[in-house]
Amino acid sequence: MKSLVICTSIHHQNTSRIASAIAEVLQAQINKPNEVHNEDLSSYDIIGFGSGIYRWKVHKALLDFADNLPNMQQKSVFIFSTSGAPDGSKYHKELKDRLTKKNCKIVGEFNCRGWDTFGPLKIIGGLNKNKPNKDDIEKAKRFAQSLKI
Ligand SMILES: Cc1cc2nc3c(=O)[nH]c(=O)nc-3n(C[C@H](O)[C@H](O)[C@H](O)COP(=O)(O)O)c2cc1C
Repeated sequence: MKSLVICTSIHHQNTSRIASAIAEVLQAQINKPNEVHNEDLSSYDIIGFGSGIYRWKVHKALLDFADNLPNMQQKSVFIFSTSGAPDGSKYHKELKDRLTKKNCKIVGEFNCRGWDTFGPLKIIGGLNKNKPNKDDIEKAKRFAQSLKI
């Protein structure tokens, strides 16, 4: 199963760590959105889209990337993220809508909390220090395993 992970992780590399765990299981290549060419996408069996959550959304570069996708002809895709707040999957909606519009088939979603020192949180050393932790990495690996077909 040829797999690609496209990831934006700008705050503390929290999402990058999840991306690496998922990529290890799927033996996937990890790229930033600007490193991926649309014409190469058809060669993958499954594509993951990962990002930290920034102001209630995934990173703009990933949203723009999704906007510029060709018709994906029911390609299997999955979404993962890390967020300061719990239950961050709700912030996947904008990306989900775009991917669905491009005829992607969303086969899974994963979110866990990540170290967050945005704004005033810095003063108190941030939220979720040491997250994602070992347990989160294990959960991400199990999630990736569940995607294998
Ligand atoms: C500019 C900015 C905005 C953020 N906005 C949110 C938000 O709206 N909701 C949330 O739960 N976390 C928010 N966070 C926290 C990040 O989602 C969290 O730290 C995440 O793990 C960062 O991932 P990264 O290290 O891969 O960039 C924000 C962080 C930054 C830097």
